[in-house]
Amino acid sequence: MKLNIAVLPGDGIGPEVTKQAIKALQAIALEFDHSFSFTHASVGAIAIDETENPLPEQTLDLCEASDAILFGAIGDPKYDNNPDAKVRPEQGLLRLRKSLGLYANIRPVKAYETLLDKSPLKKHIIEGTDISIYRELTGGIYFGEKHLSEDGNTASDLCLYTKLEIERIAHLAFKAAVARRNKVTLVDKANVLESSRLWRRVVTEIAKEYPTVALDFLFVDNAAMQMILNPKQFDVILTENMFGDIISDEASVIGGSIGLLASASVGDKYAMFEPIHGSYPEATGKGIANPIASILSAAMLLEHFDLFEEAEVIRQAVEKSLLLNITTPDLNTEHTVTTSKVGDFIADYISNPKDSNLNFSNIHLGQSTII
Ligand code: IPM
Ligand code: MN
Repeated sequence: MKLNIAVLPGDGIGPEVTKQAIKALQAIALEFDHSFSFTHASVGAIAIDETENPLPEQTLDLCEASDAILFGAIGDPKYDNNPDAKVRPEQGLLRLRKSLGLYANIRPVKAYETLLDKSPLKKHIIEGTDISIYRELTGGIYFGEKHLSEDGNTASDLCLYTKLEIERIAHLAFKAAVARRNKVTLVDKANVLESSRLWRRVVTEIAKEYPTVALDFLFVDNAAMQMILNPKQFDVILTENMFGDIISDEASVIGGSIGLLASASVGDKYAMFEPIHGSYPEATGKGIANPIASILSAAMLLEHFDLFEEAEVIRQAVEKSLLLNITTPDLNTEHTVTTSKVGDFIADYISNPKDSNLNFSNIHLGQSTII
C-alpha cells in the first residue's frame, strides 16, 4: 500500500517521539512491501515562532492532501501562564481537528500484563482492563462561543451540542462495542446539564439500532471514581469533549504511564494519530520521553487502513520492549534507555523478531545513554 503521511511533530517532546513512530512505520514498510512517504510541517508554538500562526495554511493544505496525519504534541509553558496571550499553540491543534472534521477521538486503555506493578493502582484492580474511550472532539465547551467582559471580570464558554454531532460519534461507539464486549457507557452530567440530557436522549434512541449492546449511564463525577475503583467494568466509554479529555488522562494511570496511551482522531474524510500526552517541555531533548504512545498511534494509523497484521506486529514489538524492560524512566528507574533507543529496539524487532535477544543485549551493552 502507498500512503502519504503528513508529520506534524509540534512542540516539546513531540519531535523526538514522532521520530520513533516513523522508524517503526519505515520498518513495517520494508517488511510488508509498502511505500510510506513522510512530509513534515509545523504546528503549535514552533509555528507561532515561525509564522505567528499556530496552524499555518501550508500545514493545513498538506494535511488535506495527505492520506493520514501523524501528530506529536503541542504546548509551550511561555503561553500557559499568560492569560493575555492572543495566540496559543493549542489553537493549532483545535483548529486542525475542527477544520478536518475529526469528530471522534478513540483512546484505547489497557493494563499490560508486564506493567501491572508499575501502576500506583493495585494489581487486582487493573488486571485485565481493556477500555476504548470514544471522546467527541469537535464540539462542546472547547468550541462554543467564548466571552470576556470589557472589564475583564466575567467570562464564559458555551457548551453546545447538536443531535447530529452526538449521533455520528455514537454510531462509531456502538459499532466498536459490537466488535468488542457489547457494552457502551455514556459518561455525562445529565443531572445538571441540558447538553448532557440531549446526549442521553439521542444515545438512547441510537442504542435501539444495536440490540446486542447494553447501554448504561454514569455521571462524570461517579465515572471518575469508578475508573480507579473498578476499571474492568468498562468496555466502550462514550462521552463529550471535555469529559473525555479529563477521564482519559485519569485512565492512563491504569497502564502505568501516560506515555503509553495512543489515540486516533477520525472524521468522515481525514484521520490523525496522536499520543494523548502533552508536550512535556521539561523533558525536551533529554531522551527521557516515552515514545510508545506515538508508536502505538502509528499502529492505529495502520489499522485505519485495514493493515491489521502490520499493526499487530508493532504492538508485539512494543510488548517485547516492555517485557525486556527496554523503557524510558517513566517505567523503569534502574536500566533506563533513551527515547531513541526504545525506538531502535522496536524498529529492529519489527524487522527481526528472532534476534530480539541480540537486540536486547545490544541496547544494554552498546551502552545506551543511561540517564
Ligand atoms: C488532548 C490535549 C488537548 C485537548 C490540548 C493540548 C488542547 O490535552 O489531546 O487531550 O485538550 O484536547
Ligand atoms: Mn488532554
